[in-house]
Amino acid sequence: MFGNLSALPADPILGLLTKYRKDPNPVKIDLGVGVYKDESGHTAILDCVKRAEKFRLDTEDTKVYIGPTGSAAFNDEMGKLVFGEHKILEQDRVRTVSTPGGTGALRVAAEFIGRCKPGATIWVSDPTWANHAQLFGAAGLTVKTYPYYDYDNKTLKFDEMLASLSHVQADDVVLLHACCHNPSGMDLNNEQWQKIVDLAEYVGFTPLIDMAYQGFGDGLEEDAYGVRLMADRVQEMILCTSCSKNFGLYRERIGACTIIGKDGVTSDIASSVLLNVVRGIYSMPPAHGAAIVETILGSDELRQQWYEELAVMRNRINGNRQLLVDKIKEQGVERDFSFIARQKGMFSFLGITPEQVEQLQNKHSIYMVGSSRISIAGISNSNVDYLAKSIASVL
Ligand code: LMR
Repeated sequence: MFGNLSALPADPILGLLTKYRKDPNPVKIDLGVGVYKDESGHTAILDCVKRAEKFRLDTEDTKVYIGPTGSAAFNDEMGKLVFGEHKILEQDRVRTVSTPGGTGALRVAAEFIGRCKPGATIWVSDPTWANHAQLFGAAGLTVKTYPYYDYDNKTLKFDEMLASLSHVQADDVVLLHACCHNPSGMDLNNEQWQKIVDLAEYVGFTPLIDMAYQGFGDGLEEDAYGVRLMADRVQEMILCTSCSKNFGLYRERIGACTIIGKDGVTSDIASSVLLNVVRGIYSMPPAHGAAIVETILGSDELRQQWYEELAVMRNRINGNRQLLVDKIKEQGVERDFSFIARQKGMFSFLGITPEQVEQLQNKHSIYMVGSSRISIAGISNSNVDYLAKSIASVL
């Protein structure tokens, strides 16, 4: 039976990790997978996470099954984190399940959409996270794209995006990135969000918002602007969140899938389907990551410490953006890279060709996705000169 299979290429993002780890060059740089790194290139465990883990270790008294919903305390805290003081939390319309990471949340959402309408069409931005199409396709959804990033002008194709989304069907789903667009770093501003929300209300499509980077753009509140506005105005929406980046819990696999229905009864029905989907895939989510997050968010002291640690990560990434722009300029490069400093979150496209990306990898041991997406957190004061020089040399 296995003989029917053909080998597949490594994942375009995760495959880079293996290549990078094998490379013996001492000056190699990893700008591939979206993980936060500190100045020394290390992805450390946040101090608030360490403290929460110690607390859990001392107080946890059972390992009994948690159930397909996951931790109720975690689900509540995630709701408050995303929606803040929003009235939606008082309306008995929000139903959340804890999931194995943001990817798990998206896969559950995809299966749920398939139950609402088998083969439903989901519109994703062009470009979008490389895994979206595979995730949605695996659930039998039809994936179509709407214009988003303007590669020439390093900005948004906002008018084209609006025009395209005005033609989608009322029973289609539109995927939007809440903030820190992956892979382009190009976010909707508040005014643009208002127009998209107007359109969602007018056309009646279901928004699916992917929020994997809350707190990595402008701040926890600012990054939730679009999600909150959408929740104000539409009757139904789906939200997928992740604690991989903002809590640095990557390998713990913790995120959440939230369904908002038009009323309590509809939401209860939707929730029963969601639980059935979960049972059919992985029965129930792992509990450890959720326990850490609910401990942090449930304690004034740990929550404060988390705000501070998150701000350190955000500020370092923003600083790296300007640093790279300045250093490339110092190399005498004429091409304008200042757009990198205007974009948000973990990623930007350098805007170089696949051949140049390959040269950077083969000749300089600098690793990035083939589209020239770079993970900004991989830049540091100690590698930026080498990086800028290498970029200049392949241009
Ligand atoms: C990324 O885009 O690099 C991250 O979201 C990690 C992943 O799973 O692809």
